[in-house]
Amino acid sequence: MENNKCELIAAVDLPTLDAAREFLEKLDKATPYVKIGPRLYAMGGAAFISEIVKKGYSLFLDLKLHDIPNTVASAVEPLSEMGLWALTIHTSGGHEMMSRSVAMRDKRGSRMNLFGITVLTSLGGDLWSEVHPGSDLNRSLEARALAAERAGLDGIVCSPLDLSLLRGKAEKLARVVPGIRRTRASTEDQTRVATAKEAAEAGASYIVVGRPILEAADPISEVRSILKEISGVQ
Ligand code: C5P
Repeated sequence: MENNKCELIAAVDLPTLDAAREFLEKLDKATPYVKIGPRLYAMGGAAFISEIVKKGYSLFLDLKLHDIPNTVASAVEPLSEMGLWALTIHTSGGHEMMSRSVAMRDKRGSRMNLFGITVLTSLGGDLWSEVHPGSDLNRSLEARALAAERAGLDGIVCSPLDLSLLRGKAEKLARVVPGIRRTRASTEDQTRVATAKEAAEAGASYIVVGRPILEAADPISEVRSILKEISGVQ
C-alpha cells in the first residue's frame, strides 16, 4: 500500500447509529480509518455510509462476503459506488469469487480496497479442528493468502500471530490485523492475539481495534495511546 507505516483502524462496533455518530464526532479523525460491520450496516444502510464518508473518514465496511462468485460480484457492484475505502470478502470463497469481485470493482472504476479474510482471529485450536478436520490452520492460511494475491486483492485480514508465517509471502498484499489487546491476557472471544506494538513490529500495515478502545474509560485517549505505541515502528 502507500507506505510501510502501521495505521490504526478503529472498529466502531457500537449498538446504535447515534452511539456511532457520537464516537466519530469525539474521535475527530485522530485516526481517519474506521470500520463498521453488519450490525450498523443493517441499521443505517447506504445513507449511514454516505454520512460517515462525508465526514471525511476512510470507511471500511466489514461484511466478510462469502457466497457463489456471481452473488458476491453482484453485491460488489453497488458497494463499489459508495465511496468506501475498503470492503471484506472471504478468501475461502475461492479464486473465482475473489477475481470476479476485483473485476467488478475495476469495471465500476472504483478505488475501494478489497481485503480477503484468511482465518478468523477467533478461530483457534479446537474451534478450527471442529469445522476443518484433518486440516492444518497454518497451511490453509498460507494457501488462502496466496490465492488472494493471485486473484488481485489489495490486502488480507489475518491474526497478528500469522504475520511471521506470512513473511516473504503474498508480499504485494497489505496486512490488516485484528485481534489486538492491551495485554496478552485479556482476550474475550479473540484467541490469536497480540499487542498493538507487537503487531506493528511484526509487519501489520493496519491494526483493527474495537473493544480495547470502545470499552476504555476514555476511548479517545486510548486511540491516542495506541497511535503513540505504533508510531515510529516501520
Ligand atoms: O473488539 P475487537 O478488537 O476484538 O474487534 C475486532 C474487530 O475486527 C471486530 O469488528 C471483528 O469483526 C473484526 N475482525 C476480526 N477477525 C477477523 C476479521 C475481522 O476480529 N478475521
